[in-house]
Amino acid sequence: MNIVVIGAGGVGGYFGGKLAQAGFDVTFIARGKHLEAIKNKGLQVKSILGDFTVHPNVTDAIQDIKNPDLVILGVKSWQVTEVAKVLKSVITKNTMVLPLQNGADNADKLLTVLPKENVLAGLCKIVSKVELPGVINHFTFEPEIVFGEYDNSKSDRIKQLKSVFDKAGFKNTLSDDIHLDIWKKFLFIGTISGIGALTRAVFGVMRETPGIRKIIKDTAQEMVAVANAKGVGLTQQDLAMIINVIDKLDYNTTASMQRDIMEGKPSELENFNGYIVSQGKLLGVDTPTNAFIYHCLLPQEMKARS
Ligand SMILES: NC(=O)c1ccc[n+]([C@@H]2O[C@H](COP(=O)([O-])OP(=O)(O)OC[C@H]3O[C@@H](n4cnc5c(N)ncnc54)[C@H](OP(=O)(O)O)[C@@H]3O)[C@@H](O)[C@H]2O)c1
Repeated sequence: MNIVVIGAGGVGGYFGGKLAQAGFDVTFIARGKHLEAIKNKGLQVKSILGDFTVHPNVTDAIQDIKNPDLVILGVKSWQVTEVAKVLKSVITKNTMVLPLQNGADNADKLLTVLPKENVLAGLCKIVSKVELPGVINHFTFEPEIVFGEYDNSKSDRIKQLKSVFDKAGFKNTLSDDIHLDIWKKFLFIGTISGIGALTRAVFGVMRETPGIRKIIKDTAQEMVAVANAKGVGLTQQDLAMIINVIDKLDYNTTASMQRDIMEGKPSELENFNGYIVSQGKLLGVDTPTNAFIYHCLLPQEMKARS
């Protein structure tokens, strides 16, 4: 299988690295010092499950890709549409494009640009980052990809993709309802990230402070209401489950969007709380807590992007 990974960061670098290690023909799209380091020394993955180095093809030119069978998108969610516009000219009618971003609408963004037969839906679970140019560090959590056809059908190609991921040796799940699974992950990350960015506090402090705990629940409750208005069946049990996850995670955990905002970098704010606010408006669902978080963080987000 001819695989292209666009964005060789924490996510793309780890999962693409595992596919390359398993012997698949993998081409990474990277840029800057990261591109040069991978070209010169290979992609080094430091992982709690075992370190390895691979020497894949690497380029910065998406337009040079030839007949990809699978394209994995490892860029941030705000980069999905711009990448898809370039990708459109190089995919064939058989290419599968798999978005792994956090957020609820990444496959929908692809569908605004690409033919529907090319678009899969997915998410990933991992905690990893680019440590240095050419070096990915996976430092906690067992990595997993959850994926499916956009319409949840169990096509031959999606079953074949499962066997590819099995061969690469990472946990993977062919979902029965990929949109529900995406929203369950989004319910967790979309709830805690913005509040973390606003409070600048670690998970342990947030969950132990009664006023912040209430804000966490209110934020999640609004997300459940928006999901249900969209026909995605999130339940009160799902909400209880993400509170349980927040309670169990290491005391000093922070979310990546929180860290991006705290470090003055562009973040996925628009795709998280911003998305809930705009969808709430469209669907007639009140989202006052998400709106408060979003608008309070927006000035810093705009500054980071200026
Ligand atoms: N890392 C995690 O632990 C984790 C876990 C679950 C989900 N996620 C989600 O997965 C997505 C990716 O996160 P991440 O942590 O992997 O981000 P990341 O480490 O910042 O990686 C994104 C990579 O994409 C590159 N990129 C963007 N546009 C490009 C282009 N046009 N050409 C070449 N390279 C390009 C970036 O390069 P530059 O640095 O040059 O911009 C960067 O190396 C996000 O939606 C995130 O929320 C992350």
